[in-house]
Amino acid sequence: MLKLAINGGKPVRDTKSNPWPAWPVWDENEEKALLEVLNSGVWAYNGPKEVKFNKLFAEYIGTSYTVSTVNGTVTLQLALEALGIGYGDEVILPGLTWQATAAVIIDVNAVPVIVDVCEDTWCIDPKEVEKAITPNTKAIIPVHLYGNFADMDAIMDIAQRHNLYVIEDCAHKHGGEWNGKKAGSIGDIGSFSFQLSKHLTAGEGGALTTNDPVLAEKLDALRNCGRRPENDEYTETDKGAGVYSDEGNFIQSANYRITEFQAAILIEGLKRLPEQNIKRDNNGIYINSLLSDLPGVSPMRHDKRETKKAYFNFAFRYIRDEFKELPVEKFRKALESELGIGVEGSYEPLNNCSLYVPLTKPSRYKINDKQWKEIDPSRFELPVCKKIYEEESVCFHHKILLGSKADMDMLEEAIKKIYNNVGELQ
Ligand SMILES: Cc1ncc(COP(=O)(O)O)c(C=O)c1O
Repeated sequence: MLKLAINGGKPVRDTKSNPWPAWPVWDENEEKALLEVLNSGVWAYNGPKEVKFNKLFAEYIGTSYTVSTVNGTVTLQLALEALGIGYGDEVILPGLTWQATAAVIIDVNAVPVIVDVCEDTWCIDPKEVEKAITPNTKAIIPVHLYGNFADMDAIMDIAQRHNLYVIEDCAHKHGGEWNGKKAGSIGDIGSFSFQLSKHLTAGEGGALTTNDPVLAEKLDALRNCGRRPENDEYTETDKGAGVYSDEGNFIQSANYRITEFQAAILIEGLKRLPEQNIKRDNNGIYINSLLSDLPGVSPMRHDKRETKKAYFNFAFRYIRDEFKELPVEKFRKALESELGIGVEGSYEPLNNCSLYVPLTKPSRYKINDKQWKEIDPSRFELPVCKKIYEEESVCFHHKILLGSKADMDMLEEAIKKIYNNVGELQ
């Protein structure tokens, strides 16, 4: 009789009697907060919940300012705009990230310069960043991917030496710390997503963090049709922080405002986040210690400078030759059947990504022939990203880390079971 669940055997976990923790997490506090907004009639536009959330999130991240917006894509676009990045500029980013990190760069008419990542953290490789710098480079966007941290010491050092801006894409890193500083407080601007899968969520939403009052004022204006912020909150003087001339109260922009319903949910979620992060971190440490003793898999490298992890999508590396050359997709499917939870690969590398296809839209992006050639993602070589995507990546939703140690033991058991019965899959 075949043993693996994918072949009809008994799964390691029976999710009917023993379901995985649910995501998103909410209770009567969210219900109460949403009703409060509903009854108040103030459903949007610089309302009290938005103001409160901005203050609380800035305090949590350790920056002077937070500006909330509709999502974690717009945040990146507004960060580029606030830094004055546009046509003629190059922005360096990693090849392994969600398409938004690159898409926003072409949306402001700049050129994304896509570089390879480190094989054991899957985050941007500082050596590749250094190689990619040209006189046109204006900024670097490190992405703290799947709970790992980009090497922020190296990135900030490069940025300082070459006079570049740093926008941290923290869509996966709410609450993670590098040398005691939270993600989003190290570069010039931090960008967060509150989309449903993220560890702080309002279904959709995003926030920008910064310590710079001029940038904060610009970001605030940019998310609100270019309007000058009402209460000169970024400076003591009535001239604002310097974005506006005496005559001008507007800069060109559009409506990217968050609603009070989102802000209400985020305030409640933020109360839970530190505790959830501790739970995920403890389970992460535990499961990684188990994985490091198993054949065929390898945990992600933990950098000692990461003083708090904040896992998103718990990931590990698959070693194909130790599994008798079983392709990683088959391994993931078998694991999914044993555990009754989705098991995915990494993002598709941006040089060959089905959702990052700038050349499908000449009406928008073909500014001239030079630009058209430069935004072609296939011109970049990303061998490390390719290997991770095609051969190594195994990723789970972070809710798996909100369970117990016994849940982690099941993950270990499932991997061992597949390893011991790999013949059934060949
Ligand atoms: C690394 C990264 N950056 C940016 C985004 C965009 O965020 P949003 O979906 O809120 O627009 C995501 C979303 O998954 C992401 O994973």
